[in-house]
Amino acid sequence: MKPIGVFDSGVGGLTVVKELINQLPYEDIIYFGDTARVPYGIKSKETVIRFSIENILFLLKQDVKLVCVACNTASSQAIPAIRNHFRIPIIGVISPGVREAVYATQNKRIGIIGTKGTIKSCAYELEIKQLDPKIRVTVAACPLFVPFVEEGWLRGEVVRTVASLYLKPLKDAKVDTIILGCTHYPLLKPLIRQVMGDNITLIDSAKQVAVEIKKILAVEGTLNKGRKGKQKFYVSDNPEWFSNLAKRFLGRPIKDAKKV
Ligand code: DGL
Repeated sequence: MKPIGVFDSGVGGLTVVKELINQLPYEDIIYFGDTARVPYGIKSKETVIRFSIENILFLLKQDVKLVCVACNTASSQAIPAIRNHFRIPIIGVISPGVREAVYATQNKRIGIIGTKGTIKSCAYELEIKQLDPKIRVTVAACPLFVPFVEEGWLRGEVVRTVASLYLKPLKDAKVDTIILGCTHYPLLKPLIRQVMGDNITLIDSAKQVAVEIKKILAVEGTLNKGRKGKQKFYVSDNPEWFSNLAKRFLGRPIKDAKKV
């Protein structure tokens, strides 16, 4: 049976791979991290679309049955433009997170945090408003969170001060639910909770994406059965950097990332 393809701008998409392995243990996964061109979060929409198409074409050469766009920036900027140009399903991380957040909010106030590109695209707000126009959405770009996570700065005074500044508009708006709209942010859950208070609901789209992919494969009759799935990891640069960071996102080390 064919593998599932997953791509991200770098290492963060491994948070989605972790969930896929949890929920779809029999699936083979081919991951591509575009480590030569990361970060996508500060690039123009045109560039993110071009990179995303190139990444999908690479995965198609590996004969994947579905592509998961694990990067929020690529999902929000590229998927609307390219989704219908491929014959296999192209699944992003926006809609599954939105559905979960709309379901979770009690006071109809949702906060979105992400890269500058994701926030600028308004992808999350547009989808939330389609599901429930009465929901009030407050957004905040948090560009320093990505380097903090990659450097392993997940707690401490410096990150807490930055998080307090970034999250102030969400706190002022009294949101009860926040969508973690970036691959790296699930690692900052304890910090975000510290700043926002214990009652905040944090939506991590990775879980919902895996649920959605499982449903699609079941409908298409292409779910794998029988033996434990394998993973292959490709990067466009610096496999050592990728492998070293992988453990933080995947929960276990990777030895064999291949440069392509
Ligand atoms: N993967 C990106 C995202 O989820 C974060 C890193 C980047 O800016 O490329 O938006």
